[in-house]
Amino acid sequence: MSDLPATAIFTDRHTAYRFDGAPVSDEELSRIYDLAKYTPTAMNGQPLRVIFVRSSEAKQRLLPFIGEGNQAKSESAPVVAILAYDPEFHVNLPTTNPQMAGVKESLDPMPEVRASIANNNAWLQAGGFILAVRALGLDAGPMTGYDNAGVDAEFLADTPLRSFMVVNIGHVAEGGSFPRNPRLGFDQAVTLL
Ligand SMILES: Cc1cc2nc3c(=O)[nH]c(=O)nc-3n(C[C@H](O)[C@H](O)[C@H](O)COP(=O)(O)O)c2cc1C
Repeated sequence: MSDLPATAIFTDRHTAYRFDGAPVSDEELSRIYDLAKYTPTAMNGQPLRVIFVRSSEAKQRLLPFIGEGNQAKSESAPVVAILAYDPEFHVNLPTTNPQMAGVKESLDPMPEVRASIANNNAWLQAGGFILAVRALGLDAGPMTGYDNAGVDAEFLADTPLRSFMVVNIGHVAEGGSFPRNPRLGFDQAVTLL
């Protein structure tokens, strides 16, 4: 495991679809979270929750809910992260944002607002999570092609959490990425005023 220079995380690493047999250690999983947690979020709310599926028993529970065209990708990954958002994130605000006194209490009676904030900001954290995987010299394959309700019932029952993405994590196999598709250029995506 060797850390990548910051710009190479964007330019050199890209989506992995097939992984070689190399394992990913629990220490690496811990380092992924310890980088991803610095992604900025509204009110420092940090609504992302991560379930690392790494045992073969847990993998067998997950695979039936992965879309047919995506199953082989997750099967070859030593770890699949289920990313979820927590609509109850606000209970931590007195600790994570002590400057905003009373914000937890004002969000208590607003479950729909909380779910929306949690969903938006967990997606933002997911971007940080993918880049954190790459920063540590690992490869990531994010996917939304899975049965969300099925995964939630199997792994998140009796919790308020809702999953929104799975991320295959490991070391990309030879030929396990597609050629990189073009990105929109500065002139296409940016306005200078
Ligand atoms: C939110 C999200 C959902 C995705 N869902 C899938 C998916 O279900 N199946 C799949 O094969 N690839 C999926 N991808 C992979 C994208 O197609 C890929 O990241 C994108 O084309 C950029 O490719 P590159 O990193 O090789 O440049 C997803 C990526 C993201 C970020």
